[in-house]
Amino acid sequence: MPEGRLGHCKLCELADFSDPELRELIREVYVSDLEHFGDPGFPSGREYRKYWEVAMTLRAFRSLGVLREDARILGVGSGREATIYWLTRHAGEVVATDLYETEDDWSESDSSRDMLTDPGRYWDGDWNPERLTVRHMDALALDFEDDSFDAIFSSSSIEHFGDFPDVRRSVEEMFRVLRPGGILALATEFRLEGDRIGYPGLLRFDEPELRALLLDGLWWDPATPMDLSISDETVASAVEMSEAIADQESGRRGWSRYPHLVLRHEEFLWTSVHVALVKSGLTAVEWRRRMPDLPPKVPVTERLARRAYPAVAWGRRKLGRRS
Ligand SMILES: C[S@@+](CC[C@H](N)C(=O)[O-])C[C@H]1O[C@@H](n2cnc3c(N)ncnc32)[C@H](O)[C@@H]1O
Repeated sequence: MPEGRLGHCKLCELADFSDPELRELIREVYVSDLEHFGDPGFPSGREYRKYWEVAMTLRAFRSLGVLREDARILGVGSGREATIYWLTRHAGEVVATDLYETEDDWSESDSSRDMLTDPGRYWDGDWNPERLTVRHMDALALDFEDDSFDAIFSSSSIEHFGDFPDVRRSVEEMFRVLRPGGILALATEFRLEGDRIGYPGLLRFDEPELRALLLDGLWWDPATPMDLSISDETVASAVEMSEAIADQESGRRGWSRYPHLVLRHEEFLWTSVHVALVKSGLTAVEWRRRMPDLPPKVPVTERLARRAYPAVAWGRRKLGRRS
């Protein structure tokens, strides 16, 4: 990766808000926040990790060639996030999925049933209604054929899908429905401090857990090397969870304190991680067929024969040289 360029697989850093491409995307997607807050330097002074997550995904899609007229993109647990609407102007088809028909804690804030019939009511910027399909769907059982999307995005959602095996199930589903060579852009919670993964429905992953969740046995690769380091400056800006909750309950737009990138609650300290994965050229059917017997189990007789091989090869080489 050229020096100075942001990777696609990294933690949310305060310094990222100085990156020209990321800033331009945040200003374009969150134009209504820009106008509302009226800061000419937006997002400077309003550094918020949700802006970062969305812009990181769009930037990854742009640089990895997803923004095309013929691209089909899936959102998983996508609620009514900005990503959905922006993508309708830059890709051929966007399918947003969430538990829209289920009445639960998310219904009011994110997955309202009326997204199914009137998604435009949650967006006041430009978008293309003809390119959007909204479907009620459980992320643990995606109702799509294998290899059917060019790209998938999921942001601030997988950590709410249940316990670790449930989240892993949803990741395998995303792998299955992504076409060979397709791109997954995923943002979730990354635990900087605290020994436990959290609670079902409220997980925060450390590096080994994130790697096990996303990379074990799945045939895709990080688009750029994983850099899970974080600066002291970013950590020092941590906001107490109680303060964030009070802000939300006040009903005011925005946060009372910025940067709003790292949160602290009890022994936990966490921020956002973004990962972009590129699926291999092999199909989901091949993955299902081969995965159960990998790594290969080698019978004893074959192991012995293999052990003898270097000696046989050496003998052959010697004989060859003599003749
Ligand atoms: C914090 S909200 C994030 C919504 C959206 N991605 C955003 O960033 O604004 C978490 C979302 O996950 C959805 N969710 C939880 N469990 C789900 C499941 N099993 N299948 C699909 N969506 C689920 C919730 O309904 C909710 O919309």
